[in-house]
Amino acid sequence: MADPVLSLDHLSVTLTGRDGSVTEVTADVSLEVGEHEFVSIVGPSGSGKTTLLRAASGLRRPTAGKVRFAGRDVNGVPPGISVVFQEYNKSLFPWLSIGRNVAMGARRLPPPARAEHVTDALHKVGLDGFASRYPWELSGGMQQRAALARALVSDPQLLMMDEPFASVDALTRGHLEDVVADLWERSSFASLLVTHDVGEAVYLSDRVLVLSARPSRVLAEITVDLPRPRSQSHTRQLSRFVELEAQVLERVEEAGRAAVGID
Ligand SMILES: Nc1ncnc2c1ncn2[C@@H]1O[C@H](COP(=O)(O)OP(=O)(O)OP(=O)(O)O)[C@@H](O)[C@H]1O
Ligand SMILES: [Mg+2]
Repeated sequence: MADPVLSLDHLSVTLTGRDGSVTEVTADVSLEVGEHEFVSIVGPSGSGKTTLLRAASGLRRPTAGKVRFAGRDVNGVPPGISVVFQEYNKSLFPWLSIGRNVAMGARRLPPPARAEHVTDALHKVGLDGFASRYPWELSGGMQQRAALARALVSDPQLLMMDEPFASVDALTRGHLEDVVADLWERSSFASLLVTHDVGEAVYLSDRVLVLSARPSRVLAEITVDLPRPRSQSHTRQLSRFVELEAQVLERVEEAGRAAVGID
């Protein structure tokens, strides 16, 4: 791959619990995300996906290995990486309006440009006119759109998302997937998505990586050769989609079985 935007090189993360217990969560993970590539990571629950994403974004220091972003070593979250977390109700500040929440993502911009970027980001996610509302006045799906606007307002080179739609209903989830797909197609950012939803991973991605159970490694890499733009009703009915989904699911189940010692 020519100059990936993100690369993880033999990354390991070992966590020490409060009782002193040591858990090797991630073992020797190497992966790359190319410029404007959409990559998803799927794996069994507890396999260390969140831990891996935290290390990849610079929120957590790996025990071994290296993270490089845009040609530089990562120590702390660099400008150019934005992260959307799973729980929108915890990630938005309830005492700040939606506009001010989104502005938090544009702290590095001078104030006049900031206001314009906030309006623009809210427009992109379909939240025009909601800047003065508070998070608790919005539905779950709208709050997650606001979280997305906050991540995109800084015009990142890489958008990382950890189970971003896990707490919304299925219909809203489909809508939000399309908001992300559409934004990604119309912009130049690369994306690294963590999800346990295999269909979602295939639907959105260029490539899907399957993690093994803990300590996690990359068990499989599946290239998604589905045409774009994609649409929920059309893409998900293609026989190639069904085939790819089954392929990924098989590998995830394999990883899950190995985890509980069935194999
Ligand atoms: N701060 C911590 N200290 C010790 N162990 C931790 C810590 N955070 C997570 N763990 C453990 O590391 C393992 C991986 O956790 P992680 O949240 O990364 O998995 P995950 O794949 O994201 O899980 P899920 O699918 O449930 O979101 C879990 O067994 C968890 O108990
Ligand atoms: Mg997780």
